[in-house]
Amino acid sequence: GHRYDLVVLANRLPVDQATDPDGQACWRRSPGGLVTALHPIMQSRAGAWIGWHGRPGAAPKPFNHDGIRLHPIELSAEEVDGYYEGQSNATIWPLYHDAVEQPVFDRRWRQAYHSVNHRFAAAAAQLAAPGALVWVHDYHLQLVPGMLRKLRPDLRIGFFLHIPFPPVELFCQLPMRDDIMRGLLGSDLVGFQHPQGTTNFARLAAHLLDAELADGVIKHESGVTAAATFPISIDVAGQQQLATEPPIRARADEIRRELGSPRTLILGVDRLDYTKGIEHRLTAYGELLADGRLDPAQTVMVQVAVPSRQRLDQYQSLRERVETTVSRINGRHAGIGKLCVHYLHQSYDREELAALYLAADVMAVTPLRDGMNLVAKEYVATRTDGTGALVLSEFAGAAAELRQAWMVNPHNLEALKDTLAEAAAADVAEQRRRMEPMRSHLRRYDVNRWAAAFLGQLGDPASPEPS
Ligand code: UDP
Ligand code: G6P
Repeated sequence: GHRYDLVVLANRLPVDQATDPDGQACWRRSPGGLVTALHPIMQSRAGAWIGWHGRPGAAPKPFNHDGIRLHPIELSAEEVDGYYEGQSNATIWPLYHDAVEQPVFDRRWRQAYHSVNHRFAAAAAQLAAPGALVWVHDYHLQLVPGMLRKLRPDLRIGFFLHIPFPPVELFCQLPMRDDIMRGLLGSDLVGFQHPQGTTNFARLAAHLLDAELADGVIKHESGVTAAATFPISIDVAGQQQLATEPPIRARADEIRRELGSPRTLILGVDRLDYTKGIEHRLTAYGELLADGRLDPAQTVMVQVAVPSRQRLDQYQSLRERVETTVSRINGRHAGIGKLCVHYLHQSYDREELAALYLAADVMAVTPLRDGMNLVAKEYVATRTDGTGALVLSEFAGAAAELRQAWMVNPHNLEALKDTLAEAAAADVAEQRRRMEPMRSHLRRYDVNRWAAAFLGQLGDPASPEPS
């Protein structure tokens, strides 16, 4: 078969196999920021994308979608349990996010993680042309670089982690810690969202494997691995383009009218995940209404909570807590035909989201820990007239770049209330004073710049390193 000069691996393909209302199989865009970022990059390059199609059982044949060559990987039902829901999302995900939810350790999941990683590595070994670039993504596939290095020593192998990389003390709880370190160190280049992740990784290599550190490079028993920071971004031009389209602007006006033309519309947009601080945000909003600091007659909150990882207990109980909190706020402060919180447990397309961003006076992004948070960047890019107020957690990777946001520690309820109230009260001059520098930062650091920086350092002739 055809071999590719660029091969990308991620747990998910950019589209997910789904069933439409009349029972027909169809493809839907996959959830999450990884796909948002990689999709435009892969559309502009002739490469292959290896990933899971989102269902247990036989994989569809390779196919083209939106100009991208997709190679589905089969996972059995037991592998979905052990590799995806278990090791990836009940062990690694919470542990890498500061253990904001207790990580669960189960030795049966490790075998599944290992064998699925091997399947991905074998698929890449088959598809990659001699000397090709192979770019492995995210926490599901941390063993792949080491496995692939053994199968195909000729390749240039890069790994990018989309979520935080934890401090040594936390990482060392992982029973798989040595395998994961060796897996990652099979890469020529490992990239992180935030300088703290890069530092944590280098310290860990020294601590666990006695590796030598010098100038962004880790020397270890099986070679040399560079580690560096590459903050991910969005297709800024595309997002700005959406923001100027008349139907989307009209939809934004319509949303405000449908919500009763409030003075202040506060928006939250997240996967329903315990890392996102949704409960903290709702509690702060509820108390501001109760204290009379926000007027329930003039204020509306819209919370989009995209269903996510719904088979896991931690996600089911989060959903119950969030839904109880929403009901309490509405029960106390809403009126007939006038909700205080519009809670939407569903996923929206880019057009509807852009209209929501345009309609919102305050965008509340309050994760307890987040690798980057592209929603924050999308809000800023959408606000082409420089208005709008972004409230941003210090614990989102985006806080390292969007420095003019209303910054907050979401664990501090009083601070969160004060910050939301201040952002809601800001005048247009203050909004613009903060928004403009963030907008110009994003215009410079868009997703193309991110990919070119990473692939350039990995040795891609098509992506010269910026000097
Ligand atoms: N998103 C979407 N539909 C929705 C809600 C979110 O397409 O209803 C997209 C959003 O535009 C963003 C991504 O999902 O591009 C979420 O990325 P982020 O980095 O904020 O968080 P993640 O879900 O990856 O943790
Ligand atoms: C985060 C992860 C991605 C993941 C996405 C959606 O953005 O970094 O790797 O794809 O969440 O989660 P899911 O489990 O539905 O793929």
